[in-house]
Amino acid sequence: MPQQEIVVIGGGIIGCSIALRLAKLGASVTLLEKDRIGREASWAAAGMLGPHSEASGPDPFFDLCIRSRDLYAGFAAELREDSGVDAGYRNDGGFFVALEPHESLDAARWSGWQIDSGLELQQVSSSDLRSHEPEISDQIHSAISIPGDHQVDNRLLMTALEIAILRAGVKVVRHCEVASLELKNNRVSAVLSHDARFDCEAVVHAAGCWSSVLLKQIGLAIDVVPAHGQMLSVRGPHLNHVVHSNDCYLVPRADGRLLIGATVEYQGFRKTVTAGAIHSLLTSAMRLVPSIQNAQLVEWWSGLRPDTRDHQPLLGPAGPDGLFLATGHFRNGILLAPITAELISSAIMSGKPASDLGPFRADRFLVKRAG
Ligand code: FAD
Ligand code: GLY
Repeated sequence: MPQQEIVVIGGGIIGCSIALRLAKLGASVTLLEKDRIGREASWAAAGMLGPHSEASGPDPFFDLCIRSRDLYAGFAAELREDSGVDAGYRNDGGFFVALEPHESLDAARWSGWQIDSGLELQQVSSSDLRSHEPEISDQIHSAISIPGDHQVDNRLLMTALEIAILRAGVKVVRHCEVASLELKNNRVSAVLSHDARFDCEAVVHAAGCWSSVLLKQIGLAIDVVPAHGQMLSVRGPHLNHVVHSNDCYLVPRADGRLLIGATVEYQGFRKTVTAGAIHSLLTSAMRLVPSIQNAQLVEWWSGLRPDTRDHQPLLGPAGPDGLFLATGHFRNGILLAPITAELISSAIMSGKPASDLGPFRADRFLVKRAG
């Protein structure tokens, strides 16, 4: 049987993870990236794998996040095997810390239903927390331990993925901006850049927060908008786990850096890092860990999360035959990469999208006109 020709648009974590899975299933895959591989949102992220701390309720999105978290140990081991790069996957959990009584009430909203459903979250006392994390302020009001949240070093993961896709035979074309899709008889037949044409039978659209441009060209009015996130890192204070509060999160890296994030701002495609945002993140972080006052500043950066109207991803077939969306992962694209790759690759290769894609299909945003 001839190999299926598939083009993946976008070399972030989503496009690369799908390309890897498709190549391993035997497809002929070309990945087109307008810049360098993995240097946009997937580089900017904090790498938290936080289905529990990001959950808004017991819904299909929570289930998807849990399934992806459960795939992560295997995904990280596979990438280490394929690339020789260890992406720093850790399954040692995290804490949410409330500094004020009203923050404990907010925490009860996202954690209460999980505790009631028997999930592993637990209230911990200030002294228990400080026995795990001696550098946390002694001024805390309450804390919750979240053993089921994990983490990975997303920059190392992108380095590993780039090596892995090349070794798996994916044809990677960097600095190639896709300008349009060619359709024949309501089926995608080619992807066009300004100076090249890539004939194909299927297209995976994984262009992150830039995804809407091509969708609008083919009459699909689906918004994916950039949600700007600013972050910084410092060196000095030592944490053993990811720590969240209402105002910021702190993520320790194996090399001794502590990441502090992040803003969520809707201001178009601007990626400026502002003094005001860094000041506010540092102020929040120092309330949690006072020794950050004396920390060495290492780096500041920002990225654009691909957000949708309901903040949930767009997954599966949409519009013309052969087009598959894998975008809109907003705050959870690092977490959701393994399950996205598995669901999208098996939908393309089997020709039958799994029913679990149902809640995330683009149809939910497409207005049906009467008559
Ligand atoms: P991207 O990584 O942005 O990749 C899209 C790629 O498509 C880009 O490389 C772009 O250049 C390319 N592209 C776009 N248009 C075209 C075109 N026309 N032709 C060719 N190529 C094109 N998620 C988590 O799970 N955990 C976290 O802790 C976390 N923290 C975050 C912190 C911050 C500050 C930010 C900004 C995000 C965070 N996220 C986190 C979210 C996560 O980073 C994103 O959901 C994820 O990276 C999205 O991956 P992607 O591949 O869809 O997008
Ligand atoms: N998931 C963390 C963030 O998007 O900032």
